[in-house]
Amino acid sequence: MKNSIINQINTALDAAEVNLAKADNDQEIEAVRIAIVGRKGLFPALSGEMKNVLPEDRKAVGIAFNQGKQRFQKIIDAATERLQQQDDTGETAGIDLSLPGRQWQRGTKHPVSKIIDDCVAIFRRMGFIVAEGPEMESVYNNFDALNTPADHPSRDPGDTFYFADGRLLRTQTSPVQIRVMESQEPPIRIVAPGRCFRRDTPDATHSMNFHQIEGLYIDRQVSLADLKSILQTFAHELFGPQVSIRLRPHFFPFTEPSVEYDFSCIMCKGKGCGVCKQSGWLEIAGAGMVDPQVLHNVGYDPAEWSGFAFGMGIERLAMLRYRINDIRFLYENDVRFLEQF
Ligand code: PHE
Repeated sequence: MKNSIINQINTALDAAEVNLAKADNDQEIEAVRIAIVGRKGLFPALSGEMKNVLPEDRKAVGIAFNQGKQRFQKIIDAATERLQQQDDTGETAGIDLSLPGRQWQRGTKHPVSKIIDDCVAIFRRMGFIVAEGPEMESVYNNFDALNTPADHPSRDPGDTFYFADGRLLRTQTSPVQIRVMESQEPPIRIVAPGRCFRRDTPDATHSMNFHQIEGLYIDRQVSLADLKSILQTFAHELFGPQVSIRLRPHFFPFTEPSVEYDFSCIMCKGKGCGVCKQSGWLEIAGAGMVDPQVLHNVGYDPAEWSGFAFGMGIERLAMLRYRINDIRFLYENDVRFLEQF
């Protein structure tokens, strides 16, 4: 009996030593531990045999048990330590802790959205609030109420997208002027950024779908000088204090007088370059004093109220600000382009 017990202890520990030298996770170590010293493991079973051992042999068997337990603890400790070291150096199967982490690409604001935000922030500081209107408009809001003659070329289906029900995709943000004036009493100070649509052939400077930001200021005794100072401040805020503006006479059906306004070229500082076509000036947008007929159309008394309006192309501003030479870059959604902003 004595030799049988001692042999079983040694055989089991030899096997455990070999197995634990190959173990590559904590669960394997734990399984071996349970098999040897767990409640239903080998050692408790063998100590149940003690009563069958001859009294003179009991001491030797007891010593074999104690030595066996100590040896087993060493085997367990060695295996645990080996696994611990593997974890520290990252050698555990399948995991290479020296690899660089995965980069999560964060989205950025589109340059068009950035310019809209900047413009809105500048005008808000001057007391304007944001107004919005739908992209699908009535002919009345987009043309009639804005005093556009029935035979005006911009109404042509070759220039404007019409729906079967007679409505259209707005060709400008100016119909928001009408919506605001029809729903509110003066004084009014709004800016209206938004998408516009025209049947243009796409090229480096034209897109069928583009953005404008409209401004409308209605109060008592508003003059062209007020318009000029607002536009001058806007130019300084957006492009810096070195930029000057100039107004040139122009025509729009809904403003009188009408102007186009230019910024001095931000590239060459007015000296003349490729971007400003050697003129030293950049055409930015249209503006003017709201035509009394338009005030009349929305039910305002032109004798009491006057005001100015302006509208500018957002893409043009974005292209100048970010030195983009083709408007199509703004709509191709190529991440290599977009991630630069
Ligand atoms: N809506 C005009 C355009 O698209 C611009 C403009 C707006 C002109 C407001 C005068 C006043 O060309």
